[in-house]
Amino acid sequence: MSTGYAIAYALGITPWERAGEAGGDALDKLIVRVEHELGGPDRALDLGCGSGLHTVALARRGWQVTGVDAIGKAVRSAQTRIAESGVDAAVVRGDVTNLDPAQVGTGHRLLLDIGCFHGLSDEQRARMGRSASAVSADDAWMIMLAFRPGGGRGPLPRGADDSAIESAFAGWRVVDAEPAPTDGMPKPLRKAAPMFYLARRG
Ligand SMILES: C[S@@+](CC[C@H](N)C(=O)[O-])C[C@H]1O[C@@H](n2cnc3c(N)ncnc32)[C@H](O)[C@@H]1O
Repeated sequence: MSTGYAIAYALGITPWERAGEAGGDALDKLIVRVEHELGGPDRALDLGCGSGLHTVALARRGWQVTGVDAIGKAVRSAQTRIAESGVDAAVVRGDVTNLDPAQVGTGHRLLLDIGCFHGLSDEQRARMGRSASAVSADDAWMIMLAFRPGGGRGPLPRGADDSAIESAFAGWRVVDAEPAPTDGMPKPLRKAAPMFYLARRG
């Protein structure tokens, strides 16, 4: 999957960024809900952060956020976005299936995954679940955007549902799921039927 993303970033073809902007209000509502549950913004990890769209949005809300992505060009774009936004956030190059606690920090109370997990193989998902849980607090929450399984055709991510999330993230429970807005999106993305999942640990 990372090779596909490396090519996409090299060519500047990053349609998920437009989708991310379109889904902003729905995502904001979920973040507000987590903030309410936690008593305010806390430590957050943006898994597969890309160019840092959501990393910056979280930081603006007062989260102490670290973004992690495997692609160097995406990480550099995220660092530029952070610098230009004037927010306090960190972005590191790393693999979500093998997170280095010294690099990404520990005790995260929010995991954000907008479009990363759903493109991984089962084995990668299991490793990501273990790795991300190891750097999360016992009462952490997770917001994930994933295509409906089988929804993504051709080069699109294969998708994931609540049972795929719960089997990779042992001890986490999906407590809510809602369709993500796709208005104005190209047909293949609309057909992929992305969902927002809200999960909690414990
Ligand atoms: C669909 S993009 C979404 C990027 C960003 N979350 C956004 O919404 O703009 C998925 C991202 O996951 C990253 N990714 C995929 N596999 C990864 C891995 N094993 N470790 C770290 N990042 C990964 C890709 O490089 C890509 O930036």
